[in-house]
Amino acid sequence: MEIIKFKGVKKRYYSGTEALKDIHFSVKRGEIIGIIGPNGAGKTTLIKLILGLLKPTEGEIEIFGKNIKNIKKLERNKIGMVLDTPGLYDDLTIEENIKFWQKVYKKNNNEIWNLIDRWKLTEKKKTLIKNLSAGMRQKVAILNSLSHDPELVIMDEPTSNLDPEARRDIVDFLKGFKGTDKSLIITSHDLFDIERICTRIIFLRKGKVIVDGTLKEMKKALKIEDKVKIIVSQKIPERIIRENNINLSDEKTTIIPEEKLDKILEIFRKEGIDVKRIEDEKTTLEDMYISIVREDEENVGYN
Ligand SMILES: Nc1ncnc2c1ncn2[C@@H]1O[C@H](COP(=O)(O)OP(=O)(O)O)[C@@H](O)[C@H]1O
Ligand SMILES: [Mg+2]
Repeated sequence: MEIIKFKGVKKRYYSGTEALKDIHFSVKRGEIIGIIGPNGAGKTTLIKLILGLLKPTEGEIEIFGKNIKNIKKLERNKIGMVLDTPGLYDDLTIEENIKFWQKVYKKNNNEIWNLIDRWKLTEKKKTLIKNLSAGMRQKVAILNSLSHDPELVIMDEPTSNLDPEARRDIVDFLKGFKGTDKSLIITSHDLFDIERICTRIIFLRKGKVIVDGTLKEMKKALKIEDKVKIIVSQKIPERIIRENNINLSDEKTTIIPEEKLDKILEIFRKEGIDVKRIEDEKTTLEDMYISIVREDEENVGYN
């Protein structure tokens, strides 16, 4: 079942800025989507449209199979959100914040209390939000968004400005959405996090979707192959380099397409070249991001 559908959606702000231009995409239950793209690409605008916090200038949006116009107060119990400002009540404690939202939604998610434990917040339950570190506040914002056990969770930059430990805790938790029937949409500039958390990437640039697919599909579209690095303990003879069309990064290191690994190892064995180490040179989402931005600039120019 499609839980989100955008059909030709445009968003123009009163200032005249066209933040989104003709957006089409849909999200199925259970998908974990990372929305990426440079600053000003339209990520936050897209998220606010899904949440009904902004209205599209043109086009149609469906949420849980219904036109968003006909959903009075967004089907509140089904959606959880973390926006780029945490939006917490500073003068309440962690516990009071969570209970407040559970009252608003008239629903409890008891898993929250386990998560509080896991995130080492148990001792801080009675601490006022204003006295917490940025990492802890962000954790509370996430706990709030989950307090009513939503089916769809939407988070705008949940891991930005956090210390490494808080970030690790949050990323580890978000990784757990994979394989469940809950859906998650997050934006982030941290492509390493997105790569670990998400199953599908939507790449926005200047208000347009320029890529939409899994990492595998992105690799294929960009004609990128995974590579491996072979490090040997002696200089590789000139003849072997020439005969096998090997590229060297230095005289004892070569990077080759993964599919050629067996063949090259066999040649090295025959030639008596001692292999010290083999390392993955996997193409990361960041590599792909850079490559897409460059390609896009070549195609459309800098305007
Ligand atoms: N409230 C607003 N009024 C006018 N322009 C806005 C507003 N919010 C965002 N914009 C503009 O819309 C574009 C997309 O912004 P945004 O959705 O925040 O991008 P992102 O989250 O990808 O950084 C930017 O050019 C931004 O300056
Ligand atoms: Mg944003």
